[in-house]
Amino acid sequence: MRSVDGAMSHPLLDKINQGQATVAVIGMGYVGLPLAVAFAEAGFPVVGIEQDPRRVAALQRGESYVEDIPSRRLVECMQAGRLAVSADPLPLASVDVVIVCVQTPVSPNGEPDLSAILRAGDAIARHLHPGMLVVLESTTYPGTTEEVLLPLLERGGLRVGHDFFLAYSPERIDPGNRQWTVQNTPKVVGGITPFCREIACALYQRVTTQVVPVASATTAEMVKLLENTFRAVNIALINDIALLCERLGVDVWEVIDAAKTKPFGFMPFYPGPGVGGHCIPKDFRILDWRAQRLGYASRLLAETHRINAGMPGVVVEKVAHALARQGRSLAGAQVLVLGVAYKPDVADTRDSPALEVMRLLRERGAEVSFHDPHVPTLHLDGAVLERVPLEAGLARADCVVIITAHSAYDWPWVVTRSRLVVDTRNATAGIKGQDAIVVRLGVGERRR
Ligand SMILES: NC(=O)c1ccc[n+]([C@@H]2O[C@H](COP(=O)([O-])OP(=O)(O)OC[C@H]3O[C@@H](n4cnc5c(N)ncnc54)[C@H](O)[C@@H]3O)[C@@H](O)[C@H]2O)c1
Repeated sequence: MRSVDGAMSHPLLDKINQGQATVAVIGMGYVGLPLAVAFAEAGFPVVGIEQDPRRVAALQRGESYVEDIPSRRLVECMQAGRLAVSADPLPLASVDVVIVCVQTPVSPNGEPDLSAILRAGDAIARHLHPGMLVVLESTTYPGTTEEVLLPLLERGGLRVGHDFFLAYSPERIDPGNRQWTVQNTPKVVGGITPFCREIACALYQRVTTQVVPVASATTAEMVKLLENTFRAVNIALINDIALLCERLGVDVWEVIDAAKTKPFGFMPFYPGPGVGGHCIPKDFRILDWRAQRLGYASRLLAETHRINAGMPGVVVEKVAHALARQGRSLAGAQVLVLGVAYKPDVADTRDSPALEVMRLLRERGAEVSFHDPHVPTLHLDGAVLERVPLEAGLARADCVVIITAHSAYDWPWVVTRSRLVVDTRNATAGIKGQDAIVVRLGVGERRR
């Protein structure tokens, strides 16, 4: 696989470098769809393999369900014949490259659920052929590619590094982020063998500006978990500091703004009602699970979960307390939740802290409704809730709880139409509501 001058040579490498390698992406979700479009736009023939019939039907109609990918871009790729979608894994039999982007949830007790990776791996194993490159992108515990996926792929007798190539490259996409995209976010790549890594690096060099090779697939898996654990731990830290600031009678948001003027050694994180989405709440728990299997109990990771998972309860206590100060009980109160997506300007409600806040409010007897410009309906404990019209919802609410500060909201307008606001995002800082009383998370009452 090396020529006499030491350069890599392999027919697959030539195909990649000429943009002619056929690429399959398994799992056309928030990660897989942008990646498939990036490869198609770079000129590769791409097939997206998706098991969810509703997603397949939407894509085949040329409709994108991922905000970052306008339907127009999808349609252009499809009309140019560079992107097709299939519910059947059969195209795997003839592609050169397959990239796995399936979901990796954790169970309530923190155990990673690899069933989607196993099913995808099984489909690949049935169609594995010489010269194929397989890359796992799903977030998973360090060791998965080598210990779980590799044995599956080698069961038919083909050998990694000789007959086929296997690598791990974590997906770093940040949905809704217009500055950092698949194309300009550096891509970390670790292979099972050095040649696996080199060939995977060559692939990603075609769609990203910078590729960062690391020693092994397990190293690359650990890189991803470090990145998201770093975020989860720092969010827990600032949530803790926010609750302390309340007791100190200071404003945590002002503290953060001042602290971040330090040009080195500090990075701002912000408190909130908890963490959500398909990454931050679970990725450090995957690491914790792996650590425990290795006989290492991380107290920091356990505490991170306890603090962040406890924030919805803190918010509900704030609502109850704020209502009590107005002589009202939470039981029977009308509470309007603003923003139910897990972060601003996206429609994704997976693991959103809004869901837990709404659940806890209902348990305490509140009448809960919601508004979100991106989410028309919400599934909560088997019920389907419809978004209420904003103005009417504000007029009816005894308390408005800001969970996600979408940029579409006009906060002064919201505040002036509300009787009581509990703001977990500092969206209302500096706004004087005529009659509204605004309670901000992390802001204590001044003592003088
Ligand atoms: N969403 C993010 O912001 C983000 C960012 C970085 C990494 N990740 C990681 O990337 C992975 C994917 O996340 P996502 O948000 O795209 O998930 P998702 O649920 O939106 O997409 C996964 C898709 O894979 C499909 N699928 C599962 N098994 C399949 C199979 N065997 N064949 C065909 N299709 C199959 C599912 O139907 C689903 O549509 C996860 O491991 C996640 O932790 C996510």
